[in-house]
Amino acid sequence: MERRQFLLRSCQACAALAFIPAATLTGCASFKGLSLAAENGQVKIPLAQLDASGRTMVKASGAKEKFLVVEQGDGSYAAIELNCTHKGGPLKEKDGELVCSFHGSRFDNTGRVVKGPAKTDLKRYKAEVVGDLLQVQVA
Ligand code: FES
Repeated sequence: MERRQFLLRSCQACAALAFIPAATLTGCASFKGLSLAAENGQVKIPLAQLDASGRTMVKASGAKEKFLVVEQGDGSYAAIELNCTHKGGPLKEKDGELVCSFHGSRFDNTGRVVKGPAKTDLKRYKAEVVGDLLQVQVA
């Protein structure tokens, strides 16, 4: 990336962050991700806040569960609810998959079941890139 492009993108990211109240970006000690406020059922995530592989975990007011944002390889993003569809166990990332710590169900980066006992794919929220923001509809 050229210096000029880098500076332009950095300024765009700062401008996007300027519209988000600072209090909404605070994390908590036990959660390694973004804590954001939803407005009208929608969370706006600055793309600059995603890690180098286009991922982050998000806890949003208005969303039932935390969700994981994952770049899908084609410039689109999936926002996958981190709640196992078997019996509601917590999911953690392991070896590129989401693994339930209750009974071992595994899901891929799109939320599809890879291994049961879960039979239903994970819930996905509608996610759309608008400018420098990923807008996720959580309610
Ligand atoms: S609750 Fe996740 S596999 Fe059973």
